[in-house]
Amino acid sequence: MHQINLNVIDSTNVYAKQHSQSFPQGEITCITADEQTAGVGRFQRHWVSPKDVGLYATFYFTLPARTRHLSSLAQIMALSLASVLQHEGLKPEIKWPNDVRLHKKKVSGVLCETQFHADKVEIFLGIGVNVNLDAAMIAHIDQPATSLLLETGKKWAVRDVLKKLQMQFVQDLERFKKEGFTPFHRPFDQLLALKGETVRCFDGKKVWVGICHSLTEDGQLNLLLPDKTIHTVVAGDIL
Ligand code: BTN
Repeated sequence: MHQINLNVIDSTNVYAKQHSQSFPQGEITCITADEQTAGVGRFQRHWVSPKDVGLYATFYFTLPARTRHLSSLAQIMALSLASVLQHEGLKPEIKWPNDVRLHKKKVSGVLCETQFHADKVEIFLGIGVNVNLDAAMIAHIDQPATSLLLETGKKWAVRDVLKKLQMQFVQDLERFKKEGFTPFHRPFDQLLALKGETVRCFDGKKVWVGICHSLTEDGQLNLLLPDKTIHTVVAGDIL
């Protein structure tokens, strides 16, 4: 894996999009930063990225133009992190589509961006993990959030978490390339947060209210509506 470690940058995803022409093709480039001044989240949200206490990384790679289920890549990254945390003895869950949570609070988010070309698609798969953020830093986040420090009471080495995540993700990506989302469906469904609870889910157009029921074979969300029918949300967010 090709590594680029930056001290401070606006956003590792923005940097990757600006510089991808110069990255070696045919392998993964992982861009990390100690600090981001304009970290971006999904739906144009800000990602709080203070110096040295978080993991801020963008994985860049290309896939064949016709690759299916690209939206699952962010879910696979979330699952890779969840596996790492499980190996550390924690009990993560995943709030659909790809927020990793501990004790119902968000510890990590994933932002997957793509650029399509005739022969290939470029993937910019960004992940942020709140590693050693303290309570004062977490207070700047506009939703219930936590960090590994707050959950475990000990400091973590950001580099170790990164290394473990890289190793797990490389494995998971290889598997995805061969087998698609199928082998990830069950592990993801087992970690699905809010199962059985009534949720509000925005699909970009409309808010659906229903019981968070299950995951489809390709990672979409099944909601059980009040009229007992299943509605599948392809892309969106649980509010
Ligand atoms: C979300 O939950 O909204 C997604 C957050 C993604 C944050 C990461 S941090 C590294 C990479 N660079 C960015 O600017 N964003 C992603």
